[in-house]
Order: sequence, then C-alpha cells, then structure tokens
Amino acid sequence: MVPELQKSTVRIQQPERVVGLIRAIKEQGGSKLQVISDFDMTLSRFGCNGRRCPTSHNILDNSHVVSEDGKKKLKDLLHHYYPIEIDPNRTLEEKRPLMVEWWTRAHELLSQQKIQKGDIAQIVRESDVMLRDGFNELFDQLHKYNVPMFIFSAGVGDILEEIIRQANVFYPNVHVVSNYMDFDDSGVLKCFKSPLIHTYNKNNSVLQGTAYFQQLSTRTSIILLGDSMGDLTMADGVPSVENILKIGFLNDKVEERRGKYLDAYDIVLESDETLDVVNGILRYILMET
Ligand code: C5P
Ligand code: MG
Repeated sequence: MVPELQKSTVRIQQPERVVGLIRAIKEQGGSKLQVISDFDMTLSRFGCNGRRCPTSHNILDNSHVVSEDGKKKLKDLLHHYYPIEIDPNRTLEEKRPLMVEWWTRAHELLSQQKIQKGDIAQIVRESDVMLRDGFNELFDQLHKYNVPMFIFSAGVGDILEEIIRQANVFYPNVHVVSNYMDFDDSGVLKCFKSPLIHTYNKNNSVLQGTAYFQQLSTRTSIILLGDSMGDLTMADGVPSVENILKIGFLNDKVEERRGKYLDAYDIVLESDETLDVVNGILRYILMET
C-alpha cells in the first residue's frame, strides 16, 4: 500500500488500525482531507550532520541583530527550559506555566533588540534552517490537489512564513496560526501579538472560535503532523472529524520517550529527517485510481 512504511525509522503500535485509517481516508478522497501540521522540528529539520538545526525562535536568537548579551540570555533560557519542555516525567499541568514563562521572557528579550521588519528576510537567508527532505513534494502535492494545510506553530510566524516563502512553497492553500511580531510605525519590533502560543496550549483556547476550521467543516479526514506531545491537540477545533491519522516525529531523547509517543501517535518516525512517509501516504491517498 505504502512502501515507505517499511523504512527502519517507522514504529507503529497498532498496524491494523493504521492500515484501516489510511484506507478510510483514501476512500473519502482528497476533497474530504486537510493536513494540520506543526512547524518547528516537524516541517523543519531537527538536525543535519550531527548538528542541531534552529527553530524559528533560534533563528532570531542567533541572528546578527541580537546583541551578545541578548544572545547569552536567550541561550540560558533555552538551556533551562528546553529540558523541561521535553521531560517525559513531568505532567502537562506542571509544564504549562513554565512554558508561558519561557516564551514571555524570550519575547521580552527579543523585543529589546530593535529588530526591524525589513531585516527578517536577510535573517532567514543567513540562518542554518532547513526544511525536511521532501518538503517540495509535500507542499506541491497538497497544492495540486487543493488540500488545505494548516500550520499551527508555537514558533515565530513572521520567521516561518519567510522560510516557506523563500522555499517557494507558500501556496494559497497554506494557512498559518502562530506568534506574530508587532512592529511600531517605523517598523521596529515592540512586542509579540497575543494570544501567546506555546507548546502546550495548541488547541481551541488560542484558536478563538476556530473560524478557520468552521469553513472547512466538510474536511472530515485529517492527517496531523507533529513532534511534541503538545501537537496532539492541534485538531481539537475541527467540528466533525471522522478519521484522524497522527504522525509524530520523535527527534530527541528517543529511548526515554518512545513509549509515550507510541501510545499517542499512530505512526512514530524515529530520527527521520525526511517527509518520505508522509509523502508516501499522501501519494497513496491522492492517487487517482
Ligand atoms: O510547536 P512548535 O514546534 O512550533 O514550537 C516551537 C519550538 O520552539 C518548541 O519546540 C521550542 O523548543 C522552541 N522554542 C525555542 N525558543 C523559545 C521558545 C520555544 O527554540 N524561546
Ligand atoms: Mg515542533
């Protein structure tokens, strides 16, 4: 059905369920499908040649527009809060206030750096960001078959939009909800717009009435892509879900987190920097028969 599912990076707890879901989504057809995806470390790469790739926040943190002192403070925040974010032994309730603290402190630091709207394109061009291998096929296929793609990101919207724009895949079927920068009249960053989206509030609470999903109420098949346990609730605003296939990238602390990921995601992709499996499934679903 989907040869890519034989890759050594693929782990599935309930194979029959996955086969059933993929078949059901294919039967419903592309006109009933929507894709809901996280951005950082899901559409973008986690690592390359043993080095970590940046998140949309890190792209700003590491850029030439941030002072040395600002860089150090942002790095200290990352080293303190990232292990908490991915700790499998803490509950989401425990993590939530700490994530709000991290995002708030990072956004305050960034807002002191006099970042200009006009610098964003260059900051992205000079960064080490990479989209996962196969991103072209993913965006092209969804565009070709008019499948809406909703990117729900706790990263920085202005940065991630620029990444997909520079990759020439920001098609009209792509819709982004994320943290956006608020610039003053002279184009200097003054703060971030609310609501604040962090890893563990990606749900209705920040989608406000989910107007986007309401207009897609006939798209009852969903493919959800994420890399965090917080990404699992991204489709919660969709009114009438019939089939949802959850695909999770397990990038970091693979051994410690495997059990929880296998329980939560239908398909787990371990240290897989490609979109091969997603593309294979979409090819099968969208293929005209
Ligand atoms: O949900 P999404 O993958 O878009 O979340 C953004 C990612 O950005 C988180 O996984 C987090 O580790 C990272 N982050 C960061 N710097 C911050 C806040 C979050 O790199 N200041
Ligand atoms: Mg992510």
